[in-house]
Amino acid sequence: MCGSFATGVTVITTGGPEDGAATTVNSFASVSLAPPLVLFCLHRRSRLGPVLQRSRGFVVNFLTRSQEGLAWKFAGRESARLAEVPHHRSASGLPVLTEALAFLECRLAEEYDGGDHAIVVGEVVALGTSGGEADPLVFYRGAMRALDSDVPASARG
Ligand SMILES: Cc1cc2nc3c(=O)[nH]c(=O)nc-3n(C[C@H](O)[C@H](O)[C@H](O)COP(=O)(O)O)c2cc1C
Repeated sequence: MCGSFATGVTVITTGGPEDGAATTVNSFASVSLAPPLVLFCLHRRSRLGPVLQRSRGFVVNFLTRSQEGLAWKFAGRESARLAEVPHHRSASGLPVLTEALAFLECRLAEEYDGGDHAIVVGEVVALGTSGGEADPLVFYRGAMRALDSDVPASARG
């Protein structure tokens, strides 16, 4: 049933040059403006978990429509290695996907029990956008899609 709720698609990246890791996630949500907090849910057996604990920080990368291939790469047990995709390091050394629509760099703030997932809360310490006009990637009913670009006339500025 949750598949009937359309979301964006993010890749969470963390770790240093030796242990960089990435996982595709659509459970991202913003939580608070002051302080700036966001969350995502991470399944308990994710390979990202131990790296996140060591690193104490993560980056939420919002994907563009043209990054569907990258999203699937990081969505399986045999996930691609971070080294295979274009990325650079933030000022504090966390990996940022170079072609992402936008990114939020976070300090690991809290972790709550969420059943077979952990609810991971981060405090946003830096952010950026690609600056372009790229369309976001959307996940709905098991498929990645583009936004319908027809904006109702009443919503145009
Ligand atoms: C569109 C999409 C959204 C996903 N969202 C989540 C999520 O919010 N949390 C999560 O733990 N896994 C999520 N997954 C599954 C992980 O991407 C996948 O389990 C993981 O990459 C595989 O192993 P790893 O977590 O050990 O890297 C999602 C997969 C897809 C395709």
